[in-house]
Amino acid sequence: MTATDKLIVALDRSTRAEAEALVEVLGPTVTFYKVGLELLFADGIGLAEKLKQDGKNVFLDLKFLDIANTVERAVAQAASLGFDYLTIHGHDAKTMKAAVRGRDHAGSHTKLLAVTVLTSLDADDLKQQQSRMTPPELVIHRASLAHDCGIDGVVASGQEAKSIRNATNEDFLIVTPGIRLPTDEAGDQARVTTPADAIKAGANHLVVGRPITGADDPAKAAKAFNLAINQQVDAAS
Ligand code: C5P
Repeated sequence: MTATDKLIVALDRSTRAEAEALVEVLGPTVTFYKVGLELLFADGIGLAEKLKQDGKNVFLDLKFLDIANTVERAVAQAASLGFDYLTIHGHDAKTMKAAVRGRDHAGSHTKLLAVTVLTSLDADDLKQQQSRMTPPELVIHRASLAHDCGIDGVVASGQEAKSIRNATNEDFLIVTPGIRLPTDEAGDQARVTTPADAIKAGANHLVVGRPITGADDPAKAAKAFNLAINQQVDAAS
């Protein structure tokens, strides 16, 4: 994996044409794309297949959460498409073990990522869900559970990446959304981190959406994120 592969751009667009135009503009600056729920309903899978043919990496962000039988069968279907990463929610062992069975049954190499606690949620949101844990506590609990269930990695905030690394191992993937340069708007994200801090904390990939896709010059914005990532990777080596 190159330093450029560390940046994953969230292709959150409602038509395939808009998403393709963005990919065209970003060109070789971006090598890894995330296809999520919005684009899914605009031939997101078709576009994801085209991206793979063009040599890009693809993260299918479907965030499955359902009864074990449904998750197992849905993951088998999604993993058989051969994309790089696929998400499920990491709330409980039954869901995560079912996802591993589904992926293995499909004979797929797709890596499974468990979403720990959405980066848009803060301590008050967890209290509303009757959780006695703070976001970092719940994230570490769920990341350890995911690791024990045979999941390949987690989606969490960069703020929790260091503790996740300590609680798991070097091979466990840590993918962090909620990434913002100091000059960017947070939007609806609550637990945000700069690219440098996320890399420093041990994140393998940084997911960036609106700061790139909503920029006047998306390629320039993506280059700024790549530069911040590269500088931190170089500083650490
Ligand atoms: O636009 P922004 O940079 O906030 O986009 C972040 C992307 O990462 C969105 O596509 C969102 O669905 C996704 N995501 C997230 N938090 C998670 C998991 C995925 O923000 N815990």
